[in-house]
Amino acid sequence: MNQSGLHVAIIMDGNGRWAQSRNWPRAAGHRAGMEALRRTVEAAPKLGITTLTVYAFSSDNWKRPAGEVRALMALFRNYIRRETAKCIRNGVRVSLIGRRDRLPLPLPAMVDEMETETRQGRMLHLRLAVDYSGRDAILAAVREGNVGNREEMSARLGPDVDLVIRTSGEQRVSDFLIWESAYAEFHFCSPHWPDFGAADLALALEDFRRRNRRFGATTAA
Ligand code: IPE
Ligand code: IPE
Ligand code: MG
Repeated sequence: MNQSGLHVAIIMDGNGRWAQSRNWPRAAGHRAGMEALRRTVEAAPKLGITTLTVYAFSSDNWKRPAGEVRALMALFRNYIRRETAKCIRNGVRVSLIGRRDRLPLPLPAMVDEMETETRQGRMLHLRLAVDYSGRDAILAAVREGNVGNREEMSARLGPDVDLVIRTSGEQRVSDFLIWESAYAEFHFCSPHWPDFGAADLALALEDFRRRNRRFGATTAA
C-alpha cells in the first residue's frame, strides 16, 4: 500500500465481446465501457482507493482496425470534454501515463489541459494509461538515465500497485504496469468491462483484503 491509501489498477477488458454478444459494433462496447469507467471513478474513493490506474489503450492496440482506433480516440476526446468539470468538482486529479506523441491532434493538448485543470484534486488520483506499454515505460526510464536502483526506477515510473483487476475472464497482464505490479495481488473476474460496477469493485476489494501479502518475508502467525 502506498502512504495515502490503496493503488488499484484495472485492465478494462471485454468491451468488444460485450458488444458482439448483442450483435452491436465493437465501438458500442467501448462507449458502454466509458460509462463503466465513470461509475468506477465515482465509487473508488468510497472504498479507500486513492490511486486508480486504468488501462484504456495499450501501445499494442494500434494494431487494431483503423476504424476501431478512431472510435476509441473519439471516445477519449469525449471523456475529457465531459468529465473535466466533474473531476475538478469531485477532487479527482487526472494524469495520463503512456506516450502522447502518437495521439491524434488535438488530444495531446487536451490531455495537458485536463491535467493542469485537475491538478489540485486530492480525493483520487486517476491515471489513464493510453498508448501505454509497461516494457516501453521501463525502456524510456532507462534511456533517460539515473535509474540505477529500484527506488529510482519506481520514482520514475510511479507508485507500486496493490491490486490489479482484470475483467472479462482473461488472466494475463498484457504489458500493464509490469514493474509496478511486482508484488501486486491479482483479481480476475468474469463480467465484461461495460457490466462492471461499484458492487464488482467492492467484491474485488473484499477479495484483496483477505489476501496475506508477504513481500518475500515469512507470514505473521
Ligand atoms: C478492452 O476491450 C478495451 C480496449 C482494449 C481498448 P476489448 O476491445 O479488448 O474487448 P475484447 O477483449 O475484444 O472483448
Ligand atoms: C489490454 O487488453 C489493453 C486494454 C484493456 C486497454 P487487450 O484486449 O488489448 O489485451 P489482449 O490482446 O487480450 O492480451
Ligand atoms: Mg480485450
